[in-house]
Amino acid sequence: MQRPMKKLFIKTYGCQMNVYDSDRMVDALAPSGYEATTDIDEADLVLLNTCHIREKAAEKVYSELGRLRIMREKKEQAGGNMMIGIAGCVAQAEGEEIVRRAPVVDLVFGPQSYHRLPDLVEKAQKSKVVETDFPAEDKFEHLPKPTKAVTISRGLTSFLTVQEGCDKFCSFCVVPYTRGAEVSRPVAQVLSEAQAFVDAGVKEITLLGQNVNAYHGAKADGESASLAELLYALSEIKGLDRLRYTTSHPRDMGEDLIQAHKDLDMLMPYLHLPVQSGSDKILKSMNRQHTAKEYMDLLGRIREARPDISLSGDFIVGFPGETEEDFEATLQLVRDVKYAQAYSFKYSTRPGTPGATMDDQVPEDVKAERLQRLQDLLNKQQQDFNATCIGMTLPVLFEKTGRDPGQIVGRSPYLQPVQVDADVSHIGTIHQVAVDSVGKFSLYGKIVTK
Ligand code: 5AD
Ligand code: SF4
Repeated sequence: MQRPMKKLFIKTYGCQMNVYDSDRMVDALAPSGYEATTDIDEADLVLLNTCHIREKAAEKVYSELGRLRIMREKKEQAGGNMMIGIAGCVAQAEGEEIVRRAPVVDLVFGPQSYHRLPDLVEKAQKSKVVETDFPAEDKFEHLPKPTKAVTISRGLTSFLTVQEGCDKFCSFCVVPYTRGAEVSRPVAQVLSEAQAFVDAGVKEITLLGQNVNAYHGAKADGESASLAELLYALSEIKGLDRLRYTTSHPRDMGEDLIQAHKDLDMLMPYLHLPVQSGSDKILKSMNRQHTAKEYMDLLGRIREARPDISLSGDFIVGFPGETEEDFEATLQLVRDVKYAQAYSFKYSTRPGTPGATMDDQVPEDVKAERLQRLQDLLNKQQQDFNATCIGMTLPVLFEKTGRDPGQIVGRSPYLQPVQVDADVSHIGTIHQVAVDSVGKFSLYGKIVTK
């Protein structure tokens, strides 16, 4: 008789690297008889893949654990069971503290340990497990490969982590502490994973890294390859239509990467290049290692290489010492750049980072008011950018059916969702769409035949 499958529910918080990691956790536990479910009620194992970047992110995990405790009690009363594990950056940063604060947790493991999951889950049946070491072995070498069917079920676009950790030490950021020093995966390993994705039908790959443009993976000859070299190598894979990468630091935007944007049509003209602030004083105390002018000059060179490139960024308002004048410099930079879209956050104190002990912390209400003004401007820019697409014909990779019957949805080169009324047979390929209207985030139009 076949053993019944056990059910695994993973809730993913934070960045795309966690999305990628959650899929790898599913792969790691498949040989132990676990199957992913989207229904938490039937789960034998619940994993929260957490984010620690801002205070709110960690607090969300603890409130979710409160809900899980009640669910588990109910399940136990009915004679069932539910194991609870915490993965990701909160696990790495807080370790034992999680089990102390939330005794409902059976298992805590950091981002470098998910290849050991079968063993850790086994041990956690008997007693609590906390595993936050940085093991010497390469987790990627120890992970079972997903089957073709599983890869297909995950869709036509895939994330692929090529770099982890960060050596930049921006003074607000926990990443260099939680994720450790920069490590790049060897070129051959990345190429073989990308090939496996494409063999299973993936059309678009987004290379991921906390600081992806610092990529320096080993080549067969022992030298190291830049992100640009990796992109050229990936562009040779037959059947792959699109490449993207995120997220980048302005200091690591090498000339060869800028050239790659000129040379490679399949490298999408969309770049997430966070600047955080437009004030040189704040950039300095953030330890960003560049000025606002250097950022603008860099954008000039990138736009020269790829005139149709659209830009995205991250901003922090209310970093310690930020005056109204500093904030106005951020608004001015945004006005000058004209972002296609961007993310913005109130500064959140992270214990252990230099920012946490700086003088002149900005009051919450001032942060909130500045965030509102910045977001108003960024939203307006996003809408303006979307409006410029009306009348354009854009290549759209159709990924799935839409919300309304008869509708299918894909992405433009600029990552905008594009909705059209068309047959599902268009899904899986790129079609030219004449854009005729825009909503708040999406574009609408009609497929045009060449
Ligand atoms: N407070 C607010 N935002 C932060 N980010 C990183 N650390 C903090 C913090 N302590 C933002 C930055 C970064 C993005 C991933 O998260 O803008 O680019
Ligand atoms: Fe954090 Fe700065 Fe590294 Fe980005 S570049 S992960 S913000 S330290």
